Amino acid sequence: MSVTVLVGSQWGDEGKGKIVDILSEKFDIVVRYQGGANAGHTVEIGEKQYILHLIPSGILRSGVKCVIGNGVVIDPQALLDEIKILEDNGINVEGRLFISHNAHLIMPYHKLLDSISESGKNKIGTTGRGIGPCYIDKFDRKGIRIVDLLNRDVLEKKLRQNVEEKNTLLKKLYGDKGFDIEEIIKEYISFDEAIDSYVTDVPLMLNDAIKEGKNILLEGAQGTLLDVDHGTYPFVTSSNPTSGGASTGSGIPPNKIDNVFGIVKAYTTRVGNGPFPTELTDEDGEKLRKEGAEFGATTGRPRRCGWFDAFLVRYSAMINGIDAVAVTKLDVLSVFEKIKVCVGYKLNEKLLKSFPSDVDKLSSVTPVYETVDGWMEDISECKSYNELPQKTKEYLEFISDQANIKIEIVSVGPKRRQTFSMNG
Ligand code: GDP
Ligand code: IMO
Ligand code: MG
Repeated sequence: MSVTVLVGSQWGDEGKGKIVDILSEKFDIVVRYQGGANAGHTVEIGEKQYILHLIPSGILRSGVKCVIGNGVVIDPQALLDEIKILEDNGINVEGRLFISHNAHLIMPYHKLLDSISESGKNKIGTTGRGIGPCYIDKFDRKGIRIVDLLNRDVLEKKLRQNVEEKNTLLKKLYGDKGFDIEEIIKEYISFDEAIDSYVTDVPLMLNDAIKEGKNILLEGAQGTLLDVDHGTYPFVTSSNPTSGGASTGSGIPPNKIDNVFGIVKAYTTRVGNGPFPTELTDEDGEKLRKEGAEFGATTGRPRRCGWFDAFLVRYSAMINGIDAVAVTKLDVLSVFEKIKVCVGYKLNEKLLKSFPSDVDKLSSVTPVYETVDGWMEDISECKSYNELPQKTKEYLEFISDQANIKIEIVSVGPKRRQTFSMNG
């Protein structure tokens, strides 16, 4: 039996979906514990590509059960769309998907408030999926949860209170006409009918599964530097993608978690605003974007690209307690003669001892780089560590030492077969 948490170690899009799909062969249950349809997890199987936003990437393995935990914020329409795409592709969800009573619902006004807030001065560059406003309501104790869908009277009462309050705000502050309460009530009652069969007591289900010796994988969305507590605040998402969030977001107690596994991209990307010390705005950045097809899986936005930041990943390994990692997209670096790795930050000519906690400081640091030789050959067909060119092995060893991470899996392409373990 083991319970493993899988986290993104940088700013998201590290390739979590692909690695969860690979690992889920050995797990009975895969659980999402935070975030919502802001996530875009890509899995390529044969000629097909799936982009999962809310449903755990384990859904593509037929024997695996998938759980959406209480820490997730659910856009019911996005969920139903995703279920439909899977079923249209012959992937059965019935009896395999379980949703927590305590997960919060994204409402149409959350998406509008997200876009209004992004039209102001302090743009985060959100995905526009209503994530922040939904978590605001959750922590303001006004949120509407899945459990509320199950009781029509409670649902109507809560919806009326919320919509009236949001309409007042929208009209007074933003001159918006607001929402039609009756229409929202009708819409959410129909969601209840569609979602009802998936709803279950998730903490009980997961704790029973642990007692029965089942293997559980907790799939983080986003990444450590997007964590609302440990990330580059305020340029973060509104949840805790770090390993600590896995416990509160699922109902699995911390002392039942055995391992933390990190996903590390062989370079760095970020979507949205905020500091990014190793960002490349020159032709090397363009080359990374092109070779890595670095465009958002949810919004299609071009991702900002830069060199591997070992100082940042070292911080991430500490915050999450990462035991081992998968290094992804190593093949993308094959086109570079020389590769830079950031091994520390300097501020006012002094080397920093720890990762800066405020964005002003982080925006002012100068990365300290070490340059290593590239390998300049295609590695995407390599099937084992031993087949990798010597220079590639040296790169892996170098980032492992500098970031203090133990590499267990290497990924050299988007497909399942383009993956191998370090000891295999
Ligand atoms: P996630 O959000 O962490 O699941 O990552 P995304 O799916 O948003 O972005 C990762 C992208 O890289 C996807 O398009 C994957 O298909 C692709 N990918 C994953 N691993 C590799 C790899 O090793 N090499 C290459 N070239 N692409 C990869
Ligand atoms: P996956 O799981 C990369 C970023 C947004 C924005 C910030 C806040 O695919 O790795 P939000 O909509 O959450 O309020 O936006 O967080 N962001 C992501 N960036 N990958 C993601 O998910 C992201 N989810 C949110 O771009 O900067
Ligand atoms: Mg993604």
